[in-house]
Amino acid sequence: MREEPAGSSLPLPDREAVLEHAAALILETWRSFDAARAGQPLPAERHLALLSESLPQRPGEGIAALDAAADVLDVSLTQARPRFFGWIGGSGLEIGVLGDALMASHDVNVALSAGAATLLERQTVRWTGEFVGFVPSADGLMAAGGTLSNLTALTAARERALPGVRYEGLTGHRLALYCSAEAHYSVRRAAEVLGIGGRSVRAIAIDSNRRMDPGACAAAIDADRRAGIVPVAVVATAGTTLTGAVDDLEALAEVCASREVWLHADGAYGLPAAATQLAGHLFKGLVRVDSATVDAHKWLYVPKACSVLLVRDPAALEAAFSHDESYVPHTDREDVHPVDRTLEYSRPLSALKLWLAFRVHGAQAIATAIERNLRQARLLADLVRDDPRLELLVEPQLSAVCFRHLPPEHMTAAAHNAALAAAIAADGRIMLAAATVDGVPCLRACIVNHRTTEDDVRSIVEAVLELGARVSRTR
Ligand SMILES: Cc1ncc(COP(=O)(O)O)c(C=O)c1O
Repeated sequence: MREEPAGSSLPLPDREAVLEHAAALILETWRSFDAARAGQPLPAERHLALLSESLPQRPGEGIAALDAAADVLDVSLTQARPRFFGWIGGSGLEIGVLGDALMASHDVNVALSAGAATLLERQTVRWTGEFVGFVPSADGLMAAGGTLSNLTALTAARERALPGVRYEGLTGHRLALYCSAEAHYSVRRAAEVLGIGGRSVRAIAIDSNRRMDPGACAAAIDADRRAGIVPVAVVATAGTTLTGAVDDLEALAEVCASREVWLHADGAYGLPAAATQLAGHLFKGLVRVDSATVDAHKWLYVPKACSVLLVRDPAALEAAFSHDESYVPHTDREDVHPVDRTLEYSRPLSALKLWLAFRVHGAQAIATAIERNLRQARLLADLVRDDPRLELLVEPQLSAVCFRHLPPEHMTAAAHNAALAAAIAADGRIMLAAATVDGVPCLRACIVNHRTTEDDVRSIVEAVLELGARVSRTR
């Protein structure tokens, strides 16, 4: 007999059958991700027709609607496929997908204290801190991405540097932020939003390993202070987006401690590698930073969005964000709500998928998967170095590999690699990003996928050589 939900104004007819169908579609999706497919299909006429339909006024059939959604997703670019090396994204870890479904079903709001869900979020934050080797007393919260985690940390840093700024505004003060010339642009965006100003982000020179020069950072802070400018924070990047360079956290902690400047580590991409044997040493000094961003929806493999902001002193977040509103009461039992530590109000329990990932796979297996990606990046670098038709531009510290295909003599490498990047995107066998290192256009592969195999990595070189030769012939 069919079960009909009682009392709902929007019942889902035959919901058991619809749920079973959804489960079958998810399983089919996972199977299609198990191995690479031949290319990236483009939206067909039927997709375009579906996606230009007007607002449905009448009920539709649940199973048919799910089939339509799956059909659209199948021709969408997804980072979960094993040969997606383009941007840095999560790879849709299966248990994380189920966590999202369960989370959405309960639809808890972790803005105010939400009972056990709030405890689960805090446990997940602590586990993430332990995984990467942050201070054991770490606290913090989940955010909707690295951009938001960085902004949240820098808002706390601004309040620490200029107490009361949240109430008074900048009142004529000039502020500055310091980061490597290779930092992610979310730092500049935070400066724009916080009234610090994008032009007051000091892009500190990088050394031959593409790490921020701590001496130059110290000199910039001192020069600003002499000029009456208030240093808000140094943002060290623990794995730059472009090349995976990890700034020297120990040296920067020294610079910041002696000058009483907040040190934030943007480890949105790279910080999970701190848990590995192979790369752990690069993150020495992490225990000394004030705050750190880790995007679980990047190298902890879970689906978007799932960012973790770790802070040494949660009171700094409360100083920047807490409010006492008539409709958000504080009681003695629970005097701090999650919303007192962040800008966002309605917040999903995004911690659940990461909590499940840690429980189901265990920290060791996750660290081993990250280590496999690190080895794959080294394999790719070796293959590139060994082929005279290719040039490795930067030795990988983590799992980002920047390289280029060398063109025939009559062509410039820049124009050739730009054309090659377009040819690779159109071909669809592999996804790489077009990038520029020190003004040199190149190709960039970033390996942060638990499904990627050695064969998938070798396919990068095969495709680049084949398409590179083809582009050379046609230009
Ligand atoms: C180093 C770094 N920081 C911040 C971000 C922004 O993260 P999100 O896309 O989750 O906002 C990225 C994204 O790639 C990143 O690589």
